[in-house]
Amino acid sequence: MQMNEPEAITAGRKIGDVILDMRNISLSFGGVKALTNISFNVREHEIRAIIGPNGAGKSSMLNVINGVYRPQQGEIVYRGQQRKNMDCYAAAKSGIARTFQNIALFKGMTVLDNIMTGRNLKMKSNFLLQALYWGPAQREEIEHRRKCEEVIDFLEIQHIRKTPVGRLPYGLQKRVELGRALAAEPQILLLDEPMAGMNVEEKQDMCRFILDVNEQFGTTIVLIEHDMGVVMDISDRVVVLDYGKKIGDGTPDEVRTNQDVIDAYLGVAH
Ligand SMILES: Nc1ncnc2c1ncn2[C@@H]1O[C@H](COP(=O)(O)OP(=O)(O)OP(=O)(O)O)[C@@H](O)[C@H]1O
Ligand SMILES: [Mg+2]
Repeated sequence: MQMNEPEAITAGRKIGDVILDMRNISLSFGGVKALTNISFNVREHEIRAIIGPNGAGKSSMLNVINGVYRPQQGEIVYRGQQRKNMDCYAAAKSGIARTFQNIALFKGMTVLDNIMTGRNLKMKSNFLLQALYWGPAQREEIEHRRKCEEVIDFLEIQHIRKTPVGRLPYGLQKRVELGRALAAEPQILLLDEPMAGMNVEEKQDMCRFILDVNEQFGTTIVLIEHDMGVVMDISDRVVVLDYGKKIGDGTPDEVRTNQDVIDAYLGVAH
């Protein structure tokens, strides 16, 4: 079912033009069709959710967006330009950052150092200067640290900035991972189940940070989430996948009343 494009204007925030257009994307792994002919777009400044049962292809879709997987078919148009053979480095350079379904942090390193790794792509001075910590490299390092401290303040994790990540409770590790992605100052932030495994309070905190990032920095967010309450609360539009196919696309209200979506979630036989 195709839904209307909304003219969404939420408090203090105007949804802009399409910045990412996924067209007829198909991806398979050997015989497994992870994604079949999926099209959907993402508008600037919106919070766009991808939902669907386990194995529906949600993480695969994020991996296509950030260049980890190359689809066998389809086109990706980012800011009006067709992306050709983009790898994850190029995607990150173009302003796409992400967090992972399973936390991918350096557990032995401190919170601050993990967040600093999010700045890698922004570092300009060459390796030798950095090794010597000389001149431009020193100035750059100070600037990167300042940016990371801003992220730390924003996420209210000052008290744990020197703590090794492995010692933190799960909910805080997820917040640090968000911090690392934010340190890259992304234009599009891809979040793969940022609230999975969290308790109610941790989920509320994470929702607030996601909304604040979106509102204060204008960051476009593509979010995979299983908690329907959260998805319906914070998303502008939702795309629904099931067995690698798109079965719904629209506002939370449109998706909620879509019979195909209801059937998929209730496990009606295909
Ligand atoms: N690297 C891979 N190699 C082989 N098969 C894969 C690979 N990645 C994903 N798949 C398969 O593609 C399908 C979609 O997987 P994907 O991880 O994208 O689903 P998902 O919607 O994120 O599920 P979940 O909610 O469980 O995270 C599954 O059948 C999965 O086994
Ligand atoms: Mg997944």
